[in-house]
Amino acid sequence: LRLVVLVSGSGTNLQALLDAIAADPAGFGAEIVAVGADRPGITGLERAQRAGLPTFVCRVKDHTTREEWDEALAEATAAHRPDLVVSAGFMKIVGKAFLARFGGRVLNTHPALLPSFPGAHGVRDALAYGVRVTGCTVHLVDDGVDTGPIIAQGVVQVRDEDDETTLHERIKEVERALLVDVVRRIARDGYRVVGRRVLIP
Ligand code: GRF
Repeated sequence: LRLVVLVSGSGTNLQALLDAIAADPAGFGAEIVAVGADRPGITGLERAQRAGLPTFVCRVKDHTTREEWDEALAEATAAHRPDLVVSAGFMKIVGKAFLARFGGRVLNTHPALLPSFPGAHGVRDALAYGVRVTGCTVHLVDDGVDTGPIIAQGVVQVRDEDDETTLHERIKEVERALLVDVVRRIARDGYRVVGRRVLIP
């Protein structure tokens, strides 16, 4: 299975996938063929380069409209012929052109238990709300924001002394394992969507 991974920051989810594949290249059943980002100079791109992977950067400000950026992102991604696109800490919402080309084949990981706390500050919002448990969600991307069918979720207890950073770090430990497990299972068995359920045989 050919994966293109999209990142915006430190890329520890990407690194977890790279490490899992490197540990069992034949058995994992998926390979990362390229890594894309919405900005240059991030650690996520360094991780890709260290792994010898092709990378690409699509910056919104290099385009006159959001739609043009979205089309450029779709083109850059399509050049690597992915079977599955994994948005791992990618902080932009993909648009119509991207979904027209890859709809139903884009995974996203979100650091909260969707449908609670969608959007760019899920950890901060959960903490502010005062939840006692939060966690992470791996889901298919649809045309909404963090609204696509859910594939897997992991639970994380919130501690009284938590701040956004400590809580997010603990969520990311669960999130990295969850993402690797979902990609491994999909690579092995595929998946189908029935209504809002994603079934991996
Ligand atoms: C992850 O928790 C992701 O869910 C959120 O930002 C974090 C990215 O972490 N959107 P990394 O770049 O994979 O280290």
